[in-house]
Amino acid sequence: MATKVVLIPGDGIGPEVSGATVRLLEAAKAEVEWEELEAKPIVGHRKEDADADPVVIAVNRVHVALKGPLTTPIGSGHRSINVALRKALELYANFRPVKNLPGIRTPFHNVDLIIVRENTEDLYAGLEHVVVPGVVESLKIITEHASTRIARFAFEYARRTGRKMISAVHKANIMKLSDGMFLESIRKVAEGYPEIEYREVIVDNCCMQLVMRPHEFDMLLLENLYGDIVSDLCAGLVGGLGLVPGANLGDNAAIFEAVHGSAPDIAGKNLANPTAMMLSAVLMLRHIGQGDVADRVEKAIHAVYREGARLTRDVGGDATTEEFTQAVIGALA
Ligand code: NAI
Repeated sequence: MATKVVLIPGDGIGPEVSGATVRLLEAAKAEVEWEELEAKPIVGHRKEDADADPVVIAVNRVHVALKGPLTTPIGSGHRSINVALRKALELYANFRPVKNLPGIRTPFHNVDLIIVRENTEDLYAGLEHVVVPGVVESLKIITEHASTRIARFAFEYARRTGRKMISAVHKANIMKLSDGMFLESIRKVAEGYPEIEYREVIVDNCCMQLVMRPHEFDMLLLENLYGDIVSDLCAGLVGGLGLVPGANLGDNAAIFEAVHGSAPDIAGKNLANPTAMMLSAVLMLRHIGQGDVADRVEKAIHAVYREGARLTRDVGGDATTEEFTQAVIGALA
């Protein structure tokens, strides 16, 4: 029986990359029944407001979604729909594997990092107010509960998959209370996993180390904002934002989406690289127990990269979104 999946095409390049991904999954004969919905800003701040949102209702019901990027206006306008969905559905773990693809030339080979980002609090709580004209306060919320929960997620993943080391990334030298508690919570969890090496690294130094010696890291565990920034840095290590997939995971539901945003500069031009979205769908297929289809899709993507003749512009080729997608479909075994 087909698994029901909510499909949120998104905006900007979202409809192009999600359309390409749906065609690929259909060609690969994934057993998925799509329920397509448009995500709109959630009006109101109460839990009941979020619970009444049609996307929240649908994802809570079918437990899994594939989502294209959604634009968030800068400075003013509605709050981020992405952040609202993650909070409303309690998708507390943002999981981003960063790996080299065959044939893409980057300064480092064999980069293989897992980024685990706390997804529900930190400065992303969006709690800001004007104290007096000319002075604004933005609240960074860190709780022991969420820090412990994300640490457990990371260490459990490491144990299950044989990962060797977790580096907690922080700025506890300056934010002694908030980042201090984040670290304190992780240390307690780490004690239960003696086989996994645990390290702590200050975020600025972490960025420098990552661009010089990425192989010295295995898994990175970060608060929301550092995770957002360091994810894009890591995407750059393997060839850019068009390549890195992601998942937002909670106890009841999961939303799979690329790391990148809506890329307004190339939207509607058939230039977007759908790889990140396709690889997010690979993560989704494994999550819903269709590992065989996931492997075939991933192998087809790798084959097109290995051959290198039909790649999109962001990775040095001249193929359109459509041409690249056709090439991947043609490479399915
Ligand atoms: P962005 O990721 O949309 O774009 C950054 C740069 O990477 C641009 O030059 C873009 O053309 C390029 N790029 C991104 N994805 C690409 C792809 N698949 N193929 C080829 N090139 C690609 O980041 P930006 O410009 O900071 O954000 C644009 C909008 O997206 C904002 O409104 C932001 O809030 C939103 N956003 C949404 C996310 C989500 O829905 N989860 C995540 C990140 C940003």
